[in-house]
Parts: sequence; C-alpha cells; structure tokens
Amino acid sequence: MAKEKTVFICQTCGYQTPKWLGRCPDCQGWGTLVEELIGEEASAQGVRQRWATEEIPCAIGEVAEEEEGMRLSTRLEEFNRVLGGGIVNGSVVLLGGDPGIGKSTLIFQCLHGLASQGRRCLYISAEESLRQTKLRAKRLGAVSDELFVAAETSLERIIQAVEEIKPLVLVIDSIQSIYTSQLGSAPGSISQVRETSGRLTYLAKGLGVATFLVGHVTKDGAIAGPRVLEHIVDTVLYMEHSADSPFRILRAVKNRFGSTNEIGVFEMKEGGLQEVINPSEIFLAERPTGTSGSAVMASMEGTRPILVEIQALVSPTAFAVPRRMSIGVDYNRLSLLVAVLEKKVGINLSHQDIFVNVAGGLRIEEPAVDLGVVVAVASSHLDKVIPPAMVVFGEVGLTGEVRGVSFGEQRIREAARMGFKECILPRSSAQGIKPPEGIELITARDLREVWERLF
Ligand code: TYD
Ligand code: MG
Repeated sequence: MAKEKTVFICQTCGYQTPKWLGRCPDCQGWGTLVEELIGEEASAQGVRQRWATEEIPCAIGEVAEEEEGMRLSTRLEEFNRVLGGGIVNGSVVLLGGDPGIGKSTLIFQCLHGLASQGRRCLYISAEESLRQTKLRAKRLGAVSDELFVAAETSLERIIQAVEEIKPLVLVIDSIQSIYTSQLGSAPGSISQVRETSGRLTYLAKGLGVATFLVGHVTKDGAIAGPRVLEHIVDTVLYMEHSADSPFRILRAVKNRFGSTNEIGVFEMKEGGLQEVINPSEIFLAERPTGTSGSAVMASMEGTRPILVEIQALVSPTAFAVPRRMSIGVDYNRLSLLVAVLEKKVGINLSHQDIFVNVAGGLRIEEPAVDLGVVVAVASSHLDKVIPPAMVVFGEVGLTGEVRGVSFGEQRIREAARMGFKECILPRSSAQGIKPPEGIELITARDLREVWERLF
C-alpha cells in the first residue's frame, strides 16, 4: 500500500512545506505549521483544474449572458445594498464576523425573507442542533414552508441534501465546522476549510445555487483560515460593531458584483436585527449640544452620505510623552493632523493628551474626515463650541491646505436634509454646486480661512 502523503501547512496563511519548520517562512508566524494528510484526487487544486478545462475558449461575444434581473432580493434592503442589489444566482458569499455578533441571526432573517417569497432555501446548521435553530427561528418569526434546515457537518451529506432539495439559496453556518471524510485533518483546519469551500463553490456554480458561507474571525481580525478562501469566493462580507453598541455594520470587503464601499446598518433588538434606514439620525441622536470638542462631519459610505459626530478631548498630559488615541479614525492620520495644527495654525499640543472618537462605532477611512478631526481637536483645546447646526468635510494637506473631496453635492444635501444650516467645505468641492434651500456654504482653501470663521 502506498504511503499516505502528508504536508505541513501553516494554519494562519496556508503556506505548505514537506518538512516541519518552527517558523512559517511566509507569514513569519511561530509554531503554526501542522501536519496534514492530503487526499490527492480531492484536493482543491483538482477542483480548480476541473474548472479550467470545462469549456474550450470562445469569443467573448458568444458567451451566454446571465440575465441582469436574476438577482434575488431579500426583504432586507440594507443587505441587498451591500451585495450590490441582491443575491446573484450561483454566487458564493463569505460572511465573517466575531462570534456572537449576529451572523446566524442576519442570515436566518434573510432566508426567511426569501422563503416567504416562495424561494426554496436550505440552511445547514453545523454548530447548533435543529432544536436550537427552531428556537431561534421562532424568536425571529422566521418559520416558513420553503425554508429547509438540517444539522449536518459532513460535506458529502450536505452535497447530497442540496441535490435532493434543490434550493435556490444555501447557507453553511459555519464553514469551519464542516469536514470532508477524504481529508484526515480536523474541521476548521486550513486544508478542510479550503477543500470544503472549493467543493461547495463548484457545486454553487454548477447547479446555480447561491451559497453563503458563514465564517468566524480570529482575534487578530483575519477571517480564520478563510484568508485562503477570499480569492475563491465572489463576495466577502464582514460584520462589525463597536463595544456595547447595538448597531451592527455590514461591509463588503470584496464584491465581484458591486461596489465594496457600501455599508448596511442594523440594530440588534429583541426580535432580531432591524434595518436602520436613516443612519445619520441614529449616529447623531445622542449628540451633546453646547459643548466643545464635538464636530459633525459629512461622510460617504459607498453611494450613501452619512453624518457622524467626531468627538475630541484634549487635556494636559501627566506624562513626558503625551498620549494620542483614536477610535474610528486612523491613528497615523491623527498624528499627522496634530502636527499640521501645531505647525500651520500655531496651536501648541505638545503637552496635551489627545483622544479622538467617532460616535456610534463607525470607522471612517476617507480623507474627508480630516477637517472634522482638526476642528474637533481645536474646539476642545480652545474650549470653543462649534455651532451645533454646522457640518464640515474636507481633506487637510500637510501644508494646511483644505483639499477637495468627491460627492460634495450628496454630502451637502444630506446635511440640509438633517436640518444643518452651515457647511464648511473645500473651495474646489463647492464649484458648480447649487446649495439646497436653508444651508449656507462656507468655502475654505486652507485652515486659516476655517479659523477665521470658527475660532
Ligand atoms: P448569533 O446570530 O447567534 O451570532 P453569531 O452567529 O454571529 O455567532 O447572535 C447571537 C447574539 O444575538 C446573542 O448574543 C443574542 C443576540 N440576539 C438578540 O439580541 N436578539 C435576537 O432576536 C437574537 C436571535 C439574538
Ligand atoms: Mg452562529
């Protein structure tokens, strides 16, 4: 009998080597290499090769087209939006997030929405018993005839079930609990995750079953194992929240069928996740008025403008090196903006601790947040209140110039809709924009012009 083939696979990044090593040469992790059996014919490589040789090349014009309207709409508009307008037939979506954040809840509500429109769905619960699943379904009011459930962890039996039931949408909750008997390693190991998701992808594309793979996330934020998965699947969604906040933000990290900037906002309630149709209202709901250190910024999340409050606290430090801390804004960006404030506006912050926070747990990555951070920090330091009906946005350059950002008009319109009366924005962003009724545009080319107006 031939000796079974084994390799050592890094459990963090998937690097393979025939010999054991103490440190992974790829991701530099210590002690991450684990010996695993490899089944030859069934390896994910095999799946990919089958894909590649399935069809002979032809002119692109001759390729049969997918019907545009073939997106399945779930009843959750926020979810549809993040997916780029609904679920694409035969697509494979990875849904990641911390344990307990509400992945199963979200996906179950989504399935219920589909099933109640008469679309057959199959939910594979690999972590919870059928009774637990039923309990959750009852709690969510998600019991319908076309929603099938099975508690199963074997890939072979799942495939069998899919072929029998022929669902339009399949959910595997979670991919880390599924195993194929062709591999010797435990469920959740890199090789199992890669192999099972490879086979499920093949199934999804072959039968036209839209498939959702639910995945857990490790402490350092990478979707466990699924780093190898990210290039196999079509879409990677990520669910996040800040400590104690009931809001859940769904973000697309990769999407072959839509924009990756879109976010969906949900609130966790007794009866499951509820859509937040008007996020600006929520994020500004508890805004204090009449205190310094608070500024409202008009941010764009995908195609949607959202107003958020930037809070800053500047206080004398007790240490030799003052502290800088930021939540929701990039730390390096904050350091840079503080340096610009010192040099270009002449504010001395070298003996001050500075804390910046985006209220409501949102994370803002676009440079338009700069002006919000700068005025919030200055407002706290000078103890001067920014007018409560004022909103700002704009990128701040190293020489103190206020640089233009895109989507000026949408941001201004959202601000006007939320009842704001003044808006400070980069001069170049204001060009050609007719402001809506009731809002005054204050353009600025550099921080000095902002200062003249504010402080
Ligand atoms: P769950 O979807 O099981 O999380 P995940 O699948 O990501 O691990 O969600 C579990 C949490 O959601 C749990 O802490 C309780 C809360 N929850 C509610 O607040 N309301 C509800 O209706 C449900 C079903 C869950
Ligand atoms: Mg779960």
